[in-house]
Amino acid sequence: MFRIEKSEQLAEKICQMWIRAPHVAHHAQAGQFVILRIDEKGERIPLTISAVDGDAIRIIFMAVGKTTNHLAAFHAGDHIQDVAGPLGKPSETHKFGTCVLVGGGVGTASLPIIARALKASGNRVIGIVGARNKSLLLLEDEMGKACDELLISTDDGSKGFHGFAADLLKQVMAREPVHAVWIIGPAMMMKVTCEVTRPAGIRTFVSLNPVMVDGTGMCGSCRVIVDGATKFACVDGPEFDAHKVDFNGLMQRLRTYQPEEKESLEKYQAHLCACGGGDHHA
Ligand SMILES: Cc1cc2nc3c(=O)[nH]c(=O)nc-3n(C[C@H](O)[C@H](O)[C@H](O)COP(=O)(O)OP(=O)(O)OC[C@H]3O[C@@H](n4cnc5c(N)ncnc54)[C@H](O)[C@@H]3O)c2cc1C
Ligand code: FES
Repeated sequence: MFRIEKSEQLAEKICQMWIRAPHVAHHAQAGQFVILRIDEKGERIPLTISAVDGDAIRIIFMAVGKTTNHLAAFHAGDHIQDVAGPLGKPSETHKFGTCVLVGGGVGTASLPIIARALKASGNRVIGIVGARNKSLLLLEDEMGKACDELLISTDDGSKGFHGFAADLLKQVMAREPVHAVWIIGPAMMMKVTCEVTRPAGIRTFVSLNPVMVDGTGMCGSCRVIVDGATKFACVDGPEFDAHKVDFNGLMQRLRTYQPEEKESLEKYQAHLCACGGGDHHA
């Protein structure tokens, strides 16, 4: 069992948790993830390792369906059944020169650990954090410290640049040479934003989020098409060359289980109402 050391809400529906998992913490590298199972009957969900501190790892997640809503109801001192990892290939964080890290929504959770690894390799690191509005901006202080420069965008202009992170990326590319870019966020945001770097041939990485089950390359549920070939995101990724990813295929596969996911969340919420609350033992 894995103890939750700290738990807090960062923004609407977004939670941050520190979980004691010494094996994962001691081996984790930027870009890797864990698969966790809340209890014996729980489904397995992948979440990025967002930071490491001693024996603990941090996860930051959005409560979108049954399992993430259930997890959000856990408190410090509670225990989780399984935390498997670190899984996936680490980010390529060698010396590129100037690197830009672009985060959209909860995808920003993945960036500080990559920023620190890139800085440690001697890169200049520029962070761009985007969100729909200022209340949804994540990890501004932490990104500010991890990067040489931090730029903020909000879709509604409530903080920073009024517009999309992609626009800020264009501005940075117009003013100085950029040698590598990471874009991590919703599939549509990654698909659109990587078009900014394609004409300039800038090395661009995205972290893909297909449905995963075992996380070890055995079940095939996380298959994605990259450069015309089938890849398993759990073992070949989750980071891939953005300009070679079939995003339309990825988005289509992400919609496959929507009716079942909706039904599962509705059943969970009905169960909570019948039990009278959001305690995780419900
Ligand atoms: C490598 C990787 C890292 C991720 N890191 C983060 C993170 O740091 N923070 C975060 O908020 N989310 C992250 N996700 C997405 C997260 O795994 C899903 O939001 C979560 O599994 C949803 O489960 P649910 O039961 O609450 O929702 P459901 O209702 O079951 O599903 C809601 C949506 O989540 C996705 N999803 C569902 N089950 C899975 C699954 N087993 N594997 C992957 N996606 C699934 C689907 O797109 C689905 O439409 C990551 C996904 C991957 C593949
Ligand atoms: S999750 Fe099963 S092969 Fe990747």
